[in-house]
Amino acid sequence: MGEKGFYISKPVGVVAIILGVGALATIIALSVVYDQEKSKNNEVSPTNGGTTSNPITTPTPSNEPWDKYRLPTSLVPDQYHVTLWPRLTRNETTGLYIFTGKSTVEFVCAEETDLILIHSNKLNYTTLENGHSARLTSAGGGVAAPSIKHSWLKIETQYLVIQLDGKLVKDQRYHLYTEFTGELADDLGGFYRSEYTENGVDKVVATTQMQPTDARKAFPCFDEPAMKAVFYITLIHQHGTIALSNGMENSKSFPIMEGQNVLVTAFAPTKKMSTYLLAFIVSDFGFVSEITEGLLIRIYARKNAIAANQGEYALNVTGPILKFFEDYYNASYPLPKSDQIALPDFNAGAMENWGLITYRETALLYDTEFSSNSNKERIASIISHELAHMWFGNLVTLRWWNDLWLNEGFASYVEYLGADYAEPSWNVKDLIVLSDVHRVFAVDALASSHPLSSNVDDIQKPAQISELFDAISYSKGASVLRMLSDFLTEDVFKKGLSTYLNKFAYGNTVYTDLWDHLQEAAVANSVALPGTVHTIMNRWVLQMGFPVVTIDTTTGAIHQKHFLLDPESNVTVPSEFNYEWIVPIRWMKTGNPQAQKWLVKKTDTFVDMKTSGADWVLANLNVSGYYRVNYDQGNWDKLLDVLNNSHQVRHKLCDMIIIRTKIIKTVLALDTTKYLSKDMEYMPWESALDNLDYFSLMFDRSEVYGPMQAYLKKQVTPVFNYYKEITGNWTKVPDGHMEQYNQVNAISLACRTGMEECQTLIKTWFSAWMSNPETNPIHPNLRSTVYCNAIAAGGDKEWDFAWKQFKNAAIAIEADKLRSALACTKQPWLLNRYLEYTLDPNMIRKQDATSTIVYIAQNVVGQSLAWDFVRARWSYIFTQYGGGSFSFSNLVNGVTERFSTEFELQQLKQFKADNAEVGFGSGTLAVEQSIERTIANIKWISENEKEILDWFTAEAKP
Ligand code: BES
Ligand code: ZN
Repeated sequence: MGEKGFYISKPVGVVAIILGVGALATIIALSVVYDQEKSKNNEVSPTNGGTTSNPITTPTPSNEPWDKYRLPTSLVPDQYHVTLWPRLTRNETTGLYIFTGKSTVEFVCAEETDLILIHSNKLNYTTLENGHSARLTSAGGGVAAPSIKHSWLKIETQYLVIQLDGKLVKDQRYHLYTEFTGELADDLGGFYRSEYTENGVDKVVATTQMQPTDARKAFPCFDEPAMKAVFYITLIHQHGTIALSNGMENSKSFPIMEGQNVLVTAFAPTKKMSTYLLAFIVSDFGFVSEITEGLLIRIYARKNAIAANQGEYALNVTGPILKFFEDYYNASYPLPKSDQIALPDFNAGAMENWGLITYRETALLYDTEFSSNSNKERIASIISHELAHMWFGNLVTLRWWNDLWLNEGFASYVEYLGADYAEPSWNVKDLIVLSDVHRVFAVDALASSHPLSSNVDDIQKPAQISELFDAISYSKGASVLRMLSDFLTEDVFKKGLSTYLNKFAYGNTVYTDLWDHLQEAAVANSVALPGTVHTIMNRWVLQMGFPVVTIDTTTGAIHQKHFLLDPESNVTVPSEFNYEWIVPIRWMKTGNPQAQKWLVKKTDTFVDMKTSGADWVLANLNVSGYYRVNYDQGNWDKLLDVLNNSHQVRHKLCDMIIIRTKIIKTVLALDTTKYLSKDMEYMPWESALDNLDYFSLMFDRSEVYGPMQAYLKKQVTPVFNYYKEITGNWTKVPDGHMEQYNQVNAISLACRTGMEECQTLIKTWFSAWMSNPETNPIHPNLRSTVYCNAIAAGGDKEWDFAWKQFKNAAIAIEADKLRSALACTKQPWLLNRYLEYTLDPNMIRKQDATSTIVYIAQNVVGQSLAWDFVRARWSYIFTQYGGGSFSFSNLVNGVTERFSTEFELQQLKQFKADNAEVGFGSGTLAVEQSIERTIANIKWISENEKEILDWFTAEAKP
């Protein structure tokens, strides 16, 4: 290992001498970035502040503590005092934005050691008076601390490594002090910058995104969720700006530093918390606030957004949602304030930093003039999701990332409960079936799926952690917890939760700790179960996939089978439970709910499910269980009959439309769409459309497309007319939330299937807007679909107009509608030009790049263009946009969604091989899933195309 201190690589060192010492700090920051790019996989040998660099040592596959991604258990942090100074102006010489910082961490030595490992990434350390990049002292008397022998940065595992001359003493406390510089880059991770223009002035915000492993990019820290500590944060910032962090701003002073008049804001110490939940923000934002039952609630955003009252809705729902969760958890909100802030650049949708939740603007800001009911619903649910984390995740935190599914799955389930409390008239609780259960069925039905639970040892590197933020963790997690709450009853579920949160407050857990508490609550309340919470839930958590339960109502025989999209696909991973589940079955007979049953083995017979005469059975009511149901043909026929004739039960049946699978014949499934022309309700339509979307993807380049469009046009026409009538020829908005949604479905499908009246309507609206850009006559609910269809029907004039509106939009929610609609054009040259824009941050913000490429791929004309584009630029996209969250797996899945030919499969495999070196990061699994999905699609088409073509052709006839 090399020398102590920080390092400067040779070329940069030489430049530093030429430019003089003044520029040194920023040059160093540059060198950090430079070296880390250069040596992604190599060890960098630090030098002692000199101008030469040691030769790069080849990485020996050694097994030193610093080669491991997990921290040793020898040191336990207790508190940090961190001062950070982000510079919101570009350094003239280097052209970089930077921040500087000082940090003292107080830790306890739990096991004697002569090694300090602390996470640090892309930070550059100042050499202190002792000649090292850190100073170690003993805290609160005791024996003097040993001196530092060597210190260096271990790039691959992201550590500052400090070797000591002697041992740290067990149970003694120490202070480790460092001074450092980092780049305030526009990379959406760690301490980063966000930029926007307001009233002609360019502005910069310094903000953070730590989860999962980027706190170490802001200051050296023990960056694991179980290493909880108390944080004393201080921010130095310019006059005219405000500083925010997890704690309340405590004191302000106005010193002169480095010749500048600055503001110093010190924050109240945090509670004991994990590093990934920290946040620091410097901005010139405005805010709105209220005090509800003694709690300060504030919503921050760009001044113009606050002036336009765009923070009001968030402010209005936060109080009620917090109150809901206080009651749900039976625990009061743990902090003295709740801040939420909307940022112009933000990678995920929102982040649950404790006491200072960050959002992208579209997820927090609401404007009556611009936002649709769908935008409003998203805001309510996302706020609810993040507030749910304030207890579940923040107060009590999973010990390691392998249990991430419980954290995210839980919040993804209860977000519906909180949003429902805030907006009871919307009935959002029903939507989980479509948005989570059905959505994740598609992924979890692949042989390349994976269990909810991962082994601790399999999740080590940051990329492995990032990969866990997928549909399985979120949507399957939400689905199985909903099922659990349902069979325990909500009351018992809440009781168990409450004791769990109480017991582990400010601590860490593993997922079985929650099972323990739920089990206790189940016993205390005499809930009859066919096993313990552990034994039942193990089946759902430890094995991938889900069962299809088949009920033969002629005999009452029932059996379960692992449901696979392609039944011939090979499940290579064995399961200790043989892919059998313990299945709770809520059911009804001919409209009458029956007592819940449990299927605990592969096959069984439930005599009361045997029917005679006109009686029928419907199982898995409300899709409260995470499984599919199939019946004998006779029962299907009766159910179809009910669908066609009885309104009341119809919405309970939306799981019937299981078109893509072999469990029922495709045409039987298609038969279930025949009644749609008589149905005006959202749930059945949305469910059908979700499934029919798959047909569009598979067939929009084939001969099936024409007859299919004709059939759908026929089905949607009465619905279109219905909405035209109840809205007084499109002059009013339908009353209910769901009706508003279905109006959009009606217009969107009618226009998409070529209904002339619809197309004329939207063209008229759009050209009215074009001729008078100041007044947009299109209702916000309808904008996305109107923009898309108008741009699809138009040429570059329409496109350029929409682009201009996109660039000038005063609210991100409007910009987003345009951004997706711009991908609807049928002109290849416009699509290609748009693709080029996606990788230019001046045109499309980095946060939106991958989703824009996916929008383009969703367009049948853009599909192959987007695929070519992604293939050609993979390594650039990967290095520039590869960090963080789900966007990467979304990109891979998105551009390959239509794949259904041998040729496309070959291309995909080639793509995988060609980029093995570069890698796929958090999109790794998505590549496998895409390959498997393509294989399943090829098979499905070859087996069904003919029949489907005939069916649509016959049914399309007037
Ligand atoms: N903790 C996540 C944010 C996150 C995601 C951080 C991925 C790092 C990587 C947050 O609680 C979350 O889940 N946000 C969701 C919104 C939610 C409503 C599903 C998001 O960002 O989309
Ligand atoms: Zn979450």
